[in-house]
Amino acid sequence: MITPIEGFSKLSKDQKIKWIAENYTQNTEGTTALLKRYWNDDLKVQQLHDEFIENTITNYYLPFGIAPNFLINDQLYAIPMVIEESSVVAAASKAAKFWLTRGGFKATVLNTEKVGQVHFMYDGKFNQLTTFFNQLKPILKNDTAVLTKNMEKRGGGLLDIELRNKSQDLKNYYQLHCTFETQDAMGANFINSCLEQFSKTLKREFEASTLITEYHNTLEVVMSILSNYVPNCIVKAEVSCPIEDLNEDKNIAPQVFAEKMLRAVAIAKVEPFRAVTHNKGIMNGIDAVVLATGNDFRAVEAGVHAYAAKDGSYTSLTHASIENGIFKFWIEVPLALGTLGGLTSLHPLVKLALEILQKPSAKELMKIVAVAGLAQNFAAIRSLVTTGIQEGHMKMHLMNILNQFEATEIEKKILMEHFKKNTVSHSAVVALLEKLRT
Ligand code: MEV
Repeated sequence: MITPIEGFSKLSKDQKIKWIAENYTQNTEGTTALLKRYWNDDLKVQQLHDEFIENTITNYYLPFGIAPNFLINDQLYAIPMVIEESSVVAAASKAAKFWLTRGGFKATVLNTEKVGQVHFMYDGKFNQLTTFFNQLKPILKNDTAVLTKNMEKRGGGLLDIELRNKSQDLKNYYQLHCTFETQDAMGANFINSCLEQFSKTLKREFEASTLITEYHNTLEVVMSILSNYVPNCIVKAEVSCPIEDLNEDKNIAPQVFAEKMLRAVAIAKVEPFRAVTHNKGIMNGIDAVVLATGNDFRAVEAGVHAYAAKDGSYTSLTHASIENGIFKFWIEVPLALGTLGGLTSLHPLVKLALEILQKPSAKELMKIVAVAGLAQNFAAIRSLVTTGIQEGHMKMHLMNILNQFEATEIEKKILMEHFKKNTVSHSAVVALLEKLRT
């Protein structure tokens, strides 16, 4: 029987491996060997990875691929993508190539505001709290001056602090709703440090105020934390061309293709079941670049989906139009990204990804990431409304099936050749492999 362990984090890496292998796996030696096979030979690189989190026992590989030929605002990019799904990089590359000869992608950052909140409970009158807050505001700014000084030198800092009355949603609930500009940093640590200082100042000043000395009100700070919902940190990316230029596929007339694309987007706008998958395809592109560049993909995911539901029902993040013979396809997404701090100067492959992207500022990275999302969505819808998704998907998945059945190099070659002209399915691959092997 497995018993709980005390002080697991204090064990050495070998001891941790021994414990997990002995208690939770069938083959202790096999598990140990597997975990160690994924260690980096370079001890310094391994130590760096060990120290990113607690209780590291090995590394977990994901493919790091390149989608070339992305023309964004007239500059040519090769975009690094980290993702396990077989067809994503291929789809991005295909979309990039398609738009390369049609003017490329245009991207604009609309705004870059980040948000943090001090959530607190207060049982007195709102007008008295407002008077108190108006006196408090300059003190809050003053108390965080040491924290904001460096950020201000870089052109960022605190933008505003607002008192928000939320007591209609939850009894006695109020907020300090704070906005920040964090320039090239994602800014989580900066924002959270400022918020925790705000919370201390709020408590200190409240205790000395008439709200407590005269009116005997109470105020309790519940928590202080940044918000990953950033509806004012938006980037727009778009492609457009005359309809007749949508002429790559000989099997479908450009006008028909454009209308099919529009209808697919229209469906995703009104039907949440479709919108979620539609946006998932966008996130295939977004997450892969976010991950490659060492950014927080969970923060991006949470913020993007909240934005997709901002008007009360979950809807498409992309839009399409046909006007005066011009087909236009665009996306607007909130992306709080950084190219400074966090993993960006620590993880060797993150550093390389940023170098490949020509050391972008956070704003430039927002544009690149939004373009990757738009390209992915274009590629997905294009397949969906023409050949269907499985053709390309299964072609890319073929190698995974072959590897699963430990196909030899010769078997791989024969099957790859065969499936150039035949439809890939799991059963068809297995059948052919079996035939070859008998
Ligand atoms: C698969 O990872 C993504 C798609 O399902 C996206 C879509 O349906 O638009 C192909």
